[in-house]
Amino acid sequence: SLGLKTDFLGRQIHYEESVESTQKIAHRLAADGAPEGTIIVADEQTMGRGRLGRRWHSPKFSGIWLSVILRPDLPPPKAPQLTLIAAVAVVQAIEDVTGLVPQIKWPNDILIGQKKVTGILTELQAESDRINAIIIGIGMNVNQKAADFPEEIIETATSLAIEAGHDVSRAALIQSMLYRLEKLYKTYLDKGFYPIKLLWESYAISIGKKITARTLSGDFSGTALGITEDGVLMIEESDGSLRYVYSADIQLDE
Ligand code: BTN
Repeated sequence: SLGLKTDFLGRQIHYEESVESTQKIAHRLAADGAPEGTIIVADEQTMGRGRLGRRWHSPKFSGIWLSVILRPDLPPPKAPQLTLIAAVAVVQAIEDVTGLVPQIKWPNDILIGQKKVTGILTELQAESDRINAIIIGIGMNVNQKAADFPEEIIETATSLAIEAGHDVSRAALIQSMLYRLEKLYKTYLDKGFYPIKLLWESYAISIGKKITARTLSGDFSGTALGITEDGVLMIEESDGSLRYVYSADIQLDE
């Protein structure tokens, strides 16, 4: 048992030993009417999905591979706000359980000392301009050792065990993450995005720094000013013009 301290998040948990992707299962359950707060968690994913069509390495027992179904009554353009809520919940859970202080790289990478420890993938089921379900996939590297990472990501990825110097309880992390996520989600529904935005910016690595955003329409370099109410990144270019970036990979230039 996970000893959950939540009201609705994780009241229905689908636990699987091995799946292709918890996102895939969550999509099916959401389409079949699974209630808000349903969680799918697996010990291993054989075809874990990352952002931008990438694969997500999800070996057995060493991480948290989890999807959450939420059903906020919102228009689809508000969906990125939920990704930022999840990022804050992940940071708080890592702090609660390990004392490590992670940072957020917009939009959704959680880093410790410049290396990625958690990724978040948000996907939508929408019907006529309303969100039917939002599926937040969280992949957290927990107990991998350096040698467990594939060659391509060894320089850029890390795990909590590597950073903390000891193994970390996956159950404790899930418990804390769901508790934090539920609390933040309730704050968001009651008070709007502003309190979340402040928290998010307090953890963000890139705000006030020189960055390059690689987008489908080209690269933009400048100073990251912050995020808008909708979770869109604002960059001031060297000529003073303002860019709004909806989707990109961000590189820190300083
Ligand atoms: C990223 O590219 O940074 C996002 C990675 C998201 C991985 C998680 S693991 C649980 C869920 N199931 C998936 O197939 N992907 C997400």
